[in-house]
Amino acid sequence: MIDADIYQIKEVDEYPFDYHECTLRASDELKNNARPQILDPLESIDEYDTIYLGYPNWWSTMPTIVMTFLESYDFTNKHIYPICSHEGSGMGRSESNLKKLCPNSIVYKGLSIYGSHVDGCRQQLERGLGGK
Ligand SMILES: Cc1cc2nc3c(=O)[nH]c(=O)nc-3n(C[C@H](O)[C@H](O)[C@H](O)COP(=O)(O)O)c2cc1C
Repeated sequence: MIDADIYQIKEVDEYPFDYHECTLRASDELKNNARPQILDPLESIDEYDTIYLGYPNWWSTMPTIVMTFLESYDFTNKHIYPICSHEGSGMGRSESNLKKLCPNSIVYKGLSIYGSHVDGCRQQLERGLGGK
């Protein structure tokens, strides 16, 4: 929809495909305030001033590996638009966590989308991010 580079945050230690197992690992990571290692991290984000940060809602916040990403770079004065897929909890605590992790960024109101409806979410994205 927009002329932007795309970067996917991938994990070194693959998350289980099984949903239940994945929830267990994610829960442990959250309790232990883990920062899972990112595979092929970006060298820098200096050339970007606007970031559309997409992630799934895991236990009412962002996956801890997204926290790894946010702590790996200097997001000072970057414009961040959070987009969160979920199955009922909306953005959860992810926006407040994002603001804590990136206190010097300009964080815009989040856009939450049902994970099971992402295939048909183009209009919602256009409305939510229109003109940005
Ligand atoms: C570990 C884990 C925890 C989740 N916790 C929540 C939650 O607290 N609230 C919620 O609405 N959905 C929760 N979900 C559902 C995900 O948000 C949903 O599967 C996701 O948005 C779909 O995107 P994906 O296909 O990229 O995984 C959870 C899913 C997983 C795997």
